[in-house]
Amino acid sequence: MLDSDFMELSAFKRHRRLRSSRAIRGLVREAELTPRHLVYPIFVEAGLSGRQPIGSMPGQDRLGIDALAAEARDLGSLAVPAVLLFGLPAAKDDRGSGAYARDGIVQTAIRAMKDANPELLVVGDVCLCEYTSHGHCGMLRPDGSVDNDASLPLLAETAVSLAEAGCDIIAPSDMMDGRVSAIRQSLDAAGFPETPILSYAAKFASAFYGPFREAADSAPQFGDRRGYQMDPANGRMALDEVMTDIAEGADMVMVKPALPYLDVLANVRASVDVPVAAYNVSGEYSMLMAAVQNGWLDEQRAIDETLTSIRRAGADIVITYHAKQWAARQ
Ligand code: PBG
Repeated sequence: MLDSDFMELSAFKRHRRLRSSRAIRGLVREAELTPRHLVYPIFVEAGLSGRQPIGSMPGQDRLGIDALAAEARDLGSLAVPAVLLFGLPAAKDDRGSGAYARDGIVQTAIRAMKDANPELLVVGDVCLCEYTSHGHCGMLRPDGSVDNDASLPLLAETAVSLAEAGCDIIAPSDMMDGRVSAIRQSLDAAGFPETPILSYAAKFASAFYGPFREAADSAPQFGDRRGYQMDPANGRMALDEVMTDIAEGADMVMVKPALPYLDVLANVRASVDVPVAAYNVSGEYSMLMAAVQNGWLDEQRAIDETLTSIRRAGADIVITYHAKQWAARQ
């Protein structure tokens, strides 16, 4: 062997040196996932007693108010710190009045969960789509288009009603312009200057919300949400949305969905210093679970890899339907 050949051989980098045992892999692991980072979404249905499985989301249930105390305590024992609540009201109307009713389904649910486990953080989703008869996220004009500015007072009213019920974090998901500012001003005026806002800043018009719309009974009755949710093709525009929400007072920002938008998540992470959340949405969950049910994926490994990838891309907070199941194995 010539001297020069040997030099070349010893100079190549042996990446495998750092992969040879579980211990050394742990030592050099970059992205960490613990239950501390997770938020678990829950669907609460008015008039329901106990739990009702959701057909489109294997392993997830709608819960009645009477099931929430036990759920809040279970999450505490699993060290899952937070829930995100969605409501199915008893009745819907064109103004979505169930969203801001003082005795609305989510307002009632917040009290039940905080009573049972005061340390559990309750995040309230602020949107009208589960409460409007037409299923859109804001008020409609006579021609059927969504009236941005007329929706703002209703969204702000919803946020205040959630805060009054004990909600810890307000999370607007409606994608109306100016809603973070409207909500911040209303929270401050109502005596909640310390309640943080986690804005669904970059929320895309996604096919992956399909199973959620069955779970929350929130599908639009006509048209779609492309007039207010983002075009999946637009990564730079996502940053513009994020910057606007931070300027309006968002304490934390979200990218949603997660997996088809990890590039957006990484860009947002690199561009802002506020905490960043990612929502591993219903379609991402159900796709994985369907493959698991068919025996095509190993459930635990697939969930670990999915949630770790979201953390690696830059999420501080991961909102996921896998939270409870994943935390139970730690
Ligand atoms: C309300 C809302 C939706 C989701 C969260 N908040 C539905 C939608 O925008 O159509 C989707 C969550 C999921 O798919 O898990 N606007």
